[in-house]
Amino acid sequence: MEIVILPTAADVGRAAAGLIAAVVANRSDAVIGLATGSSPQGIYRDLARRVEAGELSFALARGFALDEYVGIPLEHPESYARIIARDVVEPLGFDPSRVQVPDGRASDLDLAAKQYEADILDAGGIDIQILGIGTNGHIGFNEPTSSFASRTRIKTLALRTREDNARFFASPDEVPTHCMTQGLGTILDARALVLVAQGEQKADAIAAAVEGPLSAFVPASALQLHEHATIVVDEAAASRLQLTDYYRYTYDHKPEWQRTR
Ligand code: F6R
Repeated sequence: MEIVILPTAADVGRAAAGLIAAVVANRSDAVIGLATGSSPQGIYRDLARRVEAGELSFALARGFALDEYVGIPLEHPESYARIIARDVVEPLGFDPSRVQVPDGRASDLDLAAKQYEADILDAGGIDIQILGIGTNGHIGFNEPTSSFASRTRIKTLALRTREDNARFFASPDEVPTHCMTQGLGTILDARALVLVAQGEQKADAIAAAVEGPLSAFVPASALQLHEHATIVVDEAAASRLQLTDYYRYTYDHKPEWQRTR
């Protein structure tokens, strides 16, 4: 794992966007795993700026969202299908037919989840997966005690996740109770992972994921198993890490050949 600590949330977005841009610059038809929520917004804004400047194109890229609420109408402003269309597909210039979101409205949800896994495989797998982290340590909507071997499936949202996400809805009761999410096994199959976190409210989850034991109780600790996982955090999200001096030293002294991997 590489831990990158940067002064501000804007720096986090820019640096993580740089990792995505490098993958797409290398392969125009790269497959990108897309997170929603507040954390990746800076990444999408910075990538949109690069697209606007003519530095980058997502026209041939493919995208797979991490998750979707179950039963939320497609046109609901908080459906992840809507959010991905609004915050990612449009500003980055993806071909909408090349971006998929788990179908939380399917009549057969198990079948839709299996099909999603098959579609990712058919696309050749995910080249780089963008991740946020929940205050309870979830990634995607893999709540605490999710199996490290799990695949795309239906999950019940933790009460804490529903409380955290209530800010997006008119009332806490409106937050759906279930979701369809890529599993931890699905996420670990991506060729590279980049997790971003900003703010003090993520500090405990980041410390547990990075420096705590590998545990299904902290789903993000699964990143410890991945060969190419980068965690980009601001000072506040890094504030409960112990080895910060080492992470900063490593990043500051990174040889040029390592920067461009
Ligand atoms: C969203 C997702 C979640 C969020 C996490 C953090 O697609 O998979 O894991 O990344 O809940 O949410 P924010 O970024 O809103 O704090």
